[in-house]
Amino acid sequence: MKNITIKGATIPALGFGTFQLNPSEATHMVEAAINAGYLHIDTAQMYQNEEAVGKGIKASGVSRDKVFLTTKVLPSNLGKQSFLPSVEQSLKKLDTDYVDLLLIHWPNADVPLEEYIGELIKAQEKGYTKHIGVSNHPIKLVEQALATGANLITNQVEYHPLLDQSKLYDYLRSKDITLTAYSPIAQGEIIGNETLKAIGEKYGKNEIQVALNWLIQQENVLAIPRSSKEKNMQANIDIFDFELTPEEVAQINQLREQNLRVVNPGFAPQWD
Ligand SMILES: NC(=O)c1ccc[n+]([C@@H]2O[C@H](COP(=O)([O-])OP(=O)(O)OC[C@H]3O[C@@H](n4cnc5c(N)ncnc54)[C@H](OP(=O)(O)O)[C@@H]3O)[C@@H](O)[C@H]2O)c1
Repeated sequence: MKNITIKGATIPALGFGTFQLNPSEATHMVEAAINAGYLHIDTAQMYQNEEAVGKGIKASGVSRDKVFLTTKVLPSNLGKQSFLPSVEQSLKKLDTDYVDLLLIHWPNADVPLEEYIGELIKAQEKGYTKHIGVSNHPIKLVEQALATGANLITNQVEYHPLLDQSKLYDYLRSKDITLTAYSPIAQGEIIGNETLKAIGEKYGKNEIQVALNWLIQQENVLAIPRSSKEKNMQANIDIFDFELTPEEVAQINQLREQNLRVVNPGFAPQWD
């Protein structure tokens, strides 16, 4: 497993996503994923499976300090009154004293950024989280967050071979902030992609393995694929034994022109 070190945090470059995993799937798959070598788990208040994720971590038998655990604060919990109580609830559900990373899941137009970033910093000061970051924050909002003095280590955004994120990525790199690629399989949309398949043939890898390898070979990029199936979860971590050539990377880079965004709810901010 490749690790990324950023501002005092060491994060496994490949994590396991848990969106849409129901509680029994979440417990089973988190346990199996940790035992397969995923030591980075991503959940959120929104996914309503924090309790199940916590059970999966316990069931794995791997000690809590060996797992990099992320959760995210729901947009409706960003106000001063609900922010910290909601994080306390998350810790209770996850059955842990701290998370490794606490993220703002989405900006909320009804809560000033300075207010919720202030609460995020308080959560860190209280020891509820080791590190802080944001998700779904375009450059303008990241700039505003940094102006408050917040020591952000990541911006978790959609990123895969079919979506160009170069503008945001270049900005984040200039600020020493990692990019955590969510929906790295474009929720299935990259399956069957001929370019990725052809490249994979040479290495005995499928198109998803090529896409994940392409993501994590980029400096300061992490990826958090999700699967409800052990076989797929195992395949998705079997990506560390090959290296794409510069020509292959360039070929995949061209796919980004499709600009396919699979996560774009009505409340999304103006993307870069
Ligand atoms: N911050 C945010 O706003 C945000 C938004 C979206 C996602 N996320 C995070 O990012 C994680 C990943 O994104 P995602 O859940 O949207 O989607 P994703 O990881 O891009 O794709 C998941 C889909 O790919 C399939 N799949 C996975 N591995 C496969 C394989 N080896 N072969 C064939 N199919 C495979 C899964 O089906 P099977 O279950 O059948 O394997 C599932 O349908 C989430 O779980 C969540 O933790 C964050």
